[in-house]
Amino acid sequence: MAANIFIYRITRITYKSSLRLGHTIYLVQVAYAALKLASILSRYIIHIPNHFDLSSFAAWNSSTSTMAESTTSADPPFNSIRYLPTKEAYDRWAEVYDSDGNFLQALDDLELKTLFPRFLESIKSPKPWRIVDLGCGTGRNTALLAGISDTAEVFALDSSSGMLEVAKSRLAGSNPNLRFGIFDMLASPNTPADVAPGTVDAIISTLVVEHIPLPTFFGHVSQLLRPGGVLLLTNMHSEMGGISQAGFVDKATGEKIRPMSYAHTVDDVVLEAQKAGLMVENNDQGTGIIERGVDQAMVDKLGLRSKKWVGVTCWFGGVFRKVDA
Ligand SMILES: C[S@@+](CC[C@H](N)C(=O)[O-])C[C@H]1O[C@@H](n2cnc3c(N)ncnc32)[C@H](O)[C@@H]1O
Repeated sequence: MAANIFIYRITRITYKSSLRLGHTIYLVQVAYAALKLASILSRYIIHIPNHFDLSSFAAWNSSTSTMAESTTSADPPFNSIRYLPTKEAYDRWAEVYDSDGNFLQALDDLELKTLFPRFLESIKSPKPWRIVDLGCGTGRNTALLAGISDTAEVFALDSSSGMLEVAKSRLAGSNPNLRFGIFDMLASPNTPADVAPGTVDAIISTLVVEHIPLPTFFGHVSQLLRPGGVLLLTNMHSEMGGISQAGFVDKATGEKIRPMSYAHTVDDVVLEAQKAGLMVENNDQGTGIIERGVDQAMVDKLGLRSKKWVGVTCWFGGVFRKVDA
């Protein structure tokens, strides 16, 4: 009898423990599945703001986007992210590129106030100069080149016909020596038809290299420049590029459109430039590449969309010189 009771108790304890163990394993499995699901979903929806709802999208969608409006509102809402080939993404972006409150352009404008004069001073060849804007986009900085006196030629090159059309209408009649051309750095290993290799005195390329593998980009720059020629380069910093990337919200679909992007580090950029024969030029303070973060005081100047980037290094820029062969 005592033995029976003993066996009964042992059986009961074992049964209860196995139930508890079973529950624990089950709970662990559920938690694991939930975590896995969350990690998959986060890849697609992590950028959707908490406040997203259809009415806010509709309100934003029906607004006429002007710089003034977009700099007083934060990031527009979107319903999904769509990755497109870079050329196609920019063809679609062109219509709103200059008015969607992209703060990186504002930061670039701010920094170019000192970097662009430094770049001009660094051009050592006698005027008139041949200058290229490589990835000119809507001509934001081609306008600076068009304003230089006594240029032989200014070539504004881009792979996106949509961006180029905006640049053409923006700069029509601004400089008789200004030429526009379609040129895709990824599609052609050669220089554009009307720009012979080794004939260019200076190149600017602002916020472009994030879309191009570094050896391809610097291969083109090196091929275009004459020995001693200079490059002004600016780009999204890898600290920002590691968190986000270029893109815009297509008002027609509510989708966030993203082109192909790379988060190149400053070290990699300097190294790959060097391999192509391009050395960093120091400024008067002995600084080569300038790296710029956003701080609270800059938010007013850069627009509300810069607010979430306070404390993050977002931009870098500098001047490179092609060493004599
Ligand atoms: C962020 S926008 C910058 C435009 C302009 N440089 C500016 O600072 O406002 C990047 C530009 O690079 C151009 N781009 C991207 N990939 C390119 C490629 N493979 N060849 C030539 N241009 C390219 C895009 O079409 C776009 O106009």
